[in-house]
Amino acid sequence: MIQFVIISRIKLKKQLRCNWRSVSGKLLNKESILKETPINFNEIPGPKSYPIIGTLYKYWPFIGEYNAEALDKNAWLNWRRYGGLVREVPGVNLLHVFEPEVIEAVFRQNDRYPARRSHVAMLHYRLSKPSVYNTGGLLSTNGPDWWRLRSTFQKNFTGPQNAKQYVENTDDVVREFVKWIRDSKLSHNEDFLIYLNRLNLEVIGVVAFNEKFNSFTLQEQASESRSSKVIAAAFGSNSGIMKLDKGILWRIFKTPLYKKLVESQQYLEKVSMDILLNKINFFGKEHERKNNSLLESFLQQPNLDLKDIIGMMVDILMAAIDTTAYATSFALYHLARNPECQQKLYKEVANLLPTKESILTSDVLSKAVYVRSCIKESLRLNPVSIGVGRLLQKDIVLKGYLIPEGTVIVTQNMVASRLPQYVRDPMLFKPERWIRGSSHYENIHPFLSLPFGFGPRSCIARRLAEQNMCITLIRLVLEFEMKWMGGDLGIKTLLINKPDKPIKLSFVPRH
Ligand code: HEM
Repeated sequence: MIQFVIISRIKLKKQLRCNWRSVSGKLLNKESILKETPINFNEIPGPKSYPIIGTLYKYWPFIGEYNAEALDKNAWLNWRRYGGLVREVPGVNLLHVFEPEVIEAVFRQNDRYPARRSHVAMLHYRLSKPSVYNTGGLLSTNGPDWWRLRSTFQKNFTGPQNAKQYVENTDDVVREFVKWIRDSKLSHNEDFLIYLNRLNLEVIGVVAFNEKFNSFTLQEQASESRSSKVIAAAFGSNSGIMKLDKGILWRIFKTPLYKKLVESQQYLEKVSMDILLNKINFFGKEHERKNNSLLESFLQQPNLDLKDIIGMMVDILMAAIDTTAYATSFALYHLARNPECQQKLYKEVANLLPTKESILTSDVLSKAVYVRSCIKESLRLNPVSIGVGRLLQKDIVLKGYLIPEGTVIVTQNMVASRLPQYVRDPMLFKPERWIRGSSHYENIHPFLSLPFGFGPRSCIARRLAEQNMCITLIRLVLEFEMKWMGGDLGIKTLLINKPDKPIKLSFVPRH
């Protein structure tokens, strides 16, 4: 009898799982049934977990088959071996979610304060410096403290008009960059990523702080210059975050990686403070009042103090440079490898800006449909992060399994976006698949590709970042035909996905 009950229970669970797959859109109707018989988290397929070390051994050199700098490859392995829901236990409960319907269910939890478990060591460092910071900043803070910052800062970022006011300034910087490429006759043997980093520092400097770093001068290209050190400190902060999130030794003594994070943070702090003090001294003078930088608007917010603003300035320097430079690198890579797409892009842009004197306005950008779909398509294939992380704040049921509060969920959008069941010819770069009305248009699941995350915790600067990329692609393609001179490009997952080889491009002037 007992045997019969157990067998029927297993059958029921299996049935529920099957049903769940086939009617995955109807989450709420199923949830009530599933709640009664949720399957234990530990039964979710995944690598074998041992006491104390969990599945951490999988990342150990020589023994493990996972590589912390190749999270995309680990994810492929997991997907092939275990399917759409994969459990890992590297110190915390970790759940990888691959199917867009289930990714949607994760984001539809409607948490008041969506949370991430990341930047833990940075949070620790900032909280140990109350004379400089009030909180860990937007990237690392969770709960009501995060919302206090987010709801205030986002007023300056997310409105449709906010990004538009920076089109002219950004275009000026990008045009200087294009001229610099032309004049300096860049060789394709150089890594173009270095210059995209400099470009994005200049753009964010002007937009966020009304500050020029003059990164392209000879002095600034030296390694000890301010711009070189800011770029290195942003990278030094970001590249250690993920290893420190996984590690515990830094909590006991200052490991070399923790020291590097601290040094990088200190440099970004110093530069931010210098800029801030400078602006405050000039604040009130007529010429300064006219500038519309983000910093100026932060200073006018009554519920922010200088410590909040320093935290945000450091976060901006950390979050803006590498992300936009990597995303632009991949967009150029795909365009250079797909000359017919590049030609289509050129045609659209040349039509929108027919003469050298034509001005690039927000109106022009809104008509640049092909440019935007090239960016979307490039971010589908090569998002800046493999997926999005969320820290679960209550128990939920996914595909019949009980996922306990405190689990870290990683939505595996990069792998899912390359699967043929969700996208036609997924490995091809086809911007047309995003264009309604095109014969190649595909009705792609809205939770498949989420390069800027989702919901109230999504990228605060999405519009700005997309706009900066649009302007860069437009100006480059107007001036040059770009050819790819390297091999296949993969990624190194250092929190964000860095191209694993140099960006080798040849720029052939169009006229
Ligand atoms: C192509 C460029 C960029 C990409 C692909 C990108 C992507 C992302 C992603 C995936 C997140 C996490 C979203 C989530 O958890 O749902 C994020 C958060 C964030 N991004 Fe971006 N980002 C880019 C550029 C920028 C820029 C230019 C800035 C600053 C000016 C910025 C500032 C931030 C901040 C502060 C957060 C944390 C938001 C929060 O937790 O409330 N990002 N970004």
